[in-house]
Amino acid sequence: MNSRCSQYQGVLEAYADYLPLTPKTPRISLREGGTPLYHLNRFARAMGLPAYVRLYAKYEGANPTGSFKDRGMVVAVAKALEEGATAIMCASTGNTSASAAAYAAACGLRCFVVVPAGKIALGKLAQALTYGAKVIAVDANFDEALRLTKEITSSNPVVLVNSVNPYRLEGQKTAAFEICDTLGLVPDYLAIPVGNAGNITAYWKGFKEYHAKGKIRHLPRMLGFQAAGAAPIVRGHPIESPQTVATAIRIGNPAGWKGAVQARDESGGTIEAVTDEEILNCWETLAKTEGVFSEPASCASLAGVVKLARDGYFEAAKVKRIDDPVRNGEPVLTVVAVLTGNGLKDPGLAMERAPSPVTVPADRNAIEREMGLR
Ligand code: F0G
Repeated sequence: MNSRCSQYQGVLEAYADYLPLTPKTPRISLREGGTPLYHLNRFARAMGLPAYVRLYAKYEGANPTGSFKDRGMVVAVAKALEEGATAIMCASTGNTSASAAAYAAACGLRCFVVVPAGKIALGKLAQALTYGAKVIAVDANFDEALRLTKEITSSNPVVLVNSVNPYRLEGQKTAAFEICDTLGLVPDYLAIPVGNAGNITAYWKGFKEYHAKGKIRHLPRMLGFQAAGAAPIVRGHPIESPQTVATAIRIGNPAGWKGAVQARDESGGTIEAVTDEEILNCWETLAKTEGVFSEPASCASLAGVVKLARDGYFEAAKVKRIDDPVRNGEPVLTVVAVLTGNGLKDPGLAMERAPSPVTVPADRNAIEREMGLR
């Protein structure tokens, strides 16, 4: 690496003090992390959020493979290399496979991914295949794919890189650090989509570590959101055939169930369900009011915030703290919603829902007519 290089160096470099690194851990990087935090003012007003809610989005779609998975994958793959691994494996609804495949390619490892056949968004599949992973589709849902993957990796020299691998959560917790570092304060609420429940567990771990180190003065309340047709934690039991348009979180029996419940209960937050219609409405409104294209599953977090606001949740929970920002003498609640993946992951769904482009003759008059200028 060129010593004069001023480029951002990625998660292992940025948060080395908080990660389980040894002198032998290779400092690999695809420049993951360092993602934007957007103030969603136009979206918040369009969705009728009360003025005292200041809504931000942590846009994880800006990661190298287009999802938050890169933060955890870089740590999991670095540790696998340190331990002498030559192959990694995961089950996936798509994003984990894209991320695992990319880091394996960058580090010369073999990569195997097991995915539910026909249920992976096009962009994710294209990534895993192009990065050179061996993609194995099974006629089963994610939960069964993960069960099989765990079984295979427990008796073969292949490292499991799903979020049951603790190094994944270590890396993913860095997003919580970044939010606090960027805002200069801890948000009052952190809203996040919940699928296999690794990410909500990782964020909560991150906030608690920053709190223990005295970096933040209080902890946020954790708000997790599942898709209504795939909401085992909300319903209180596994869902055998989870269904949702948000394929990334189409999971019926999350491996991180306990961690999610712990995050909810320790923080005094909640985990709720949002419908596909609520998710898609926020997904489209976000793109049209903010210029932010995220994948549908990501918008479970925004749909959840909108729903809770309509139910008066934030009104009832409004609490004044000494270091709260104030607007017109009133306390402002800071809510950060995590947008976990990039909209380009699922171009199929976007094209299904968007109007078709109009085709006209290559003629100035015809184009001006379409523009409403004639
Ligand atoms: N959002 C996106 C875009 C995801 O890809 C996932 C999970 C989640 C949210 C939920 O995060 O599982 O930590 O609760 N995707 C996994 C995968 C399951 O295989 O890519 P979680």
